[in-house]
Amino acid sequence: MNEDYSFDRGHLFLYRSYANLTVKKCTFVKTVFMKSRRASETLSITTKVVLPNDTNTLGNLFGGQLLAWMDVIASVSAHRHSKRVVVTASVNNVSFQKPINHASIVTLEAKVSRAFSSSMEIFVDVFVEDAITGQREKCNEAIYTFVAVDQYGAPIQVPELIPETDQEKERFEGALRRKQLSLILAGKMKPSEATELKKLFLGDE
Ligand SMILES: CC(C)(COP(=O)(O)OP(=O)(O)OC[C@H]1O[C@@H](n2cnc3c(N)ncnc32)[C@H](O)[C@@H]1OP(=O)(O)O)[C@@H](O)C(=O)NCCC(=O)NCCS
Repeated sequence: MNEDYSFDRGHLFLYRSYANLTVKKCTFVKTVFMKSRRASETLSITTKVVLPNDTNTLGNLFGGQLLAWMDVIASVSAHRHSKRVVVTASVNNVSFQKPINHASIVTLEAKVSRAFSSSMEIFVDVFVEDAITGQREKCNEAIYTFVAVDQYGAPIQVPELIPETDQEKERFEGALRRKQLSLILAGKMKPSEATELKKLFLGDE
């Protein structure tokens, strides 16, 4: 049987339109999803009042409630960086330095400190506002790792993060070390593979 594979004008037009659409789609994906972002672009802030339902038996903010607030605001930062669906992969360095009393005004600030392949490290700083002077005091901190995932829940590439301020650069520098520690604790990396931690403890051998 003889089959004619040559394009007529209609097919050619459709083929060209499809090709143009594909190029446009790739350009869109590149400019939106893979565009490098400054750390400041990922800043997310939320302010809460500690209500009776948020407290423990001592009348202070319940730790689990604070973790939930931090998780949400960290996910907003991770999303602002990646523009993808993100999931919590780990929570590290949570420190409840000071109790937060009932009726306190609490502000949480989250910012991506470094982006790797599919994962992002996010710092969450928690401040309490003095009811009279309005002065803010830092009372808690946590470091979250979020992973950007596709529609099947599989990790997907995120863009590069650009640190600018001294604090952003300092946090960026330490992020690989913290990632390796987190992976070791999760049983996903052998200590012998943790190059940054080896450098920290053993120096440049
Ligand atoms: C997070 C998740 C997507 C990782 O998937 P995975 O198949 O283990 O994928 P990988 O091992 O390739 O890890 C993907 C990335 O996450 C990082 N990662 C995974 N576990 C980590 C951990 N404990 N600490 C730090 N980073 C971690 C990896 O280093 C990798 O980073 P990179 O791509 O930037 O190099 C998957 O484990 C998951 O869906 N977990 C459940 C998430 C969830 O439901 N969270 C809410 C909890 S209530």
